[in-house]
Amino acid sequence: MSAPTLFDALAPQPADTLLSLIALHRDDPRPHKLDLGVGVYRDDSGATPVMRAVKAAEARLLETQSSKSYLGPEGDIRYAELLQPIVFGRAVPADTFVGVQTPGGTGALRLAAELINAARKNAKGPGAKVWLGTPTWPNHAPIMTAAGLTVATYRYYDQATQTVLFDEMMAALQGAAAGDVVLLHGCCHNPVGADLDRSQWRAVAEVVAQRGLIPLIDLAYQGLGDGLEEDAAGARLVLDAAPDALLAYSCDKNFGLYRERVGALYAKGGTPARTELMRSNILLLARVNWSMPPDHGAALVRVILDDAALTADWRAELDGMRSRINRVRQALAAGDPWLAPLGHHRGMFSLLPLSPDQVATLRREHAVYMVGSGRANLAGLTLDTVPQFIDAVRAVR
Ligand code: LMR
Repeated sequence: MSAPTLFDALAPQPADTLLSLIALHRDDPRPHKLDLGVGVYRDDSGATPVMRAVKAAEARLLETQSSKSYLGPEGDIRYAELLQPIVFGRAVPADTFVGVQTPGGTGALRLAAELINAARKNAKGPGAKVWLGTPTWPNHAPIMTAAGLTVATYRYYDQATQTVLFDEMMAALQGAAAGDVVLLHGCCHNPVGADLDRSQWRAVAEVVAQRGLIPLIDLAYQGLGDGLEEDAAGARLVLDAAPDALLAYSCDKNFGLYRERVGALYAKGGTPARTELMRSNILLLARVNWSMPPDHGAALVRVILDDAALTADWRAELDGMRSRINRVRQALAAGDPWLAPLGHHRGMFSLLPLSPDQVATLRREHAVYMVGSGRANLAGLTLDTVPQFIDAVRAVR
């Protein structure tokens, strides 16, 4: 018997329910099982392939990379520059924008949260509450609170009626204090699938500007909704309206680089002096969190975006992925009136009005794996398996 130690004081933590689905599905021997769990793209054969341009970039990198020496806390600067036209539609001015590479979109969100908290503590006010529309990605609130921030919520979506509660969102933002942060899903809302339309984005941009709110945009699925340009249009409206803004970006989904953890944080400061403050603090916070981000995935994105032919091939394959998801959506919407809203949603996810019990029955009796909240990753379906999914859902409804 060893004496009690410090770590005996730890509270037990449940396994992450979303990530646990990976193992549950893997261990299910039923051949007809459907994986609609974790958010990865799947092709018609159910595989999550390495994209062609990524394979080509890997071969080129193997040939040409001459050193693995440190790059610094900002990571691959050229990578963050090359993404700018895709994210912002143009190269952004270096004196009012900072862009750094991060370990995935999660790293970008964590860095953003710590930057906000560092500023909040120095400002010594009550400010910088983070407004989250619910439901949201289950990791959003924990990331914000782990960095020391306070979270406030408003209802974004009604699961039972499958509607965006835009009036509730606007009322919350109109009641937010200057300096509060509003976390927005740039496109392909995770988990609900229902995004704001253009006029709603314009209204959000106006309230952000009027009330002095700080947008923190999570753009993790660009290109998987309606197209690279279309998927960034709302975010760009808000970024243009706000003097200061943060954008957490992920290449994990649109480059299929998931486990490589490829993200970026962009910070917009209203003046060069403020931008410089943001830059130096971001670099310090990156240094104390991970020192430097892992290189490989960002180097691949850089190689692709630095080469016109590889970029064209990446865009073409991404177009194909998006079209496939949208074909599955149309088949579901046409297959059962209850699933009709899915035809208007975008991205991998939709939140179905199913209870945790119904989701558990789907898993147990029909080998359909989805998140307990009712979130389905529709990229896990093909036109061939849509009827099987519709039958399973009808059976539990
Ligand atoms: C998801 O929501 O399924 C993905 O973003 C994976 C994750 O890290 O949660």
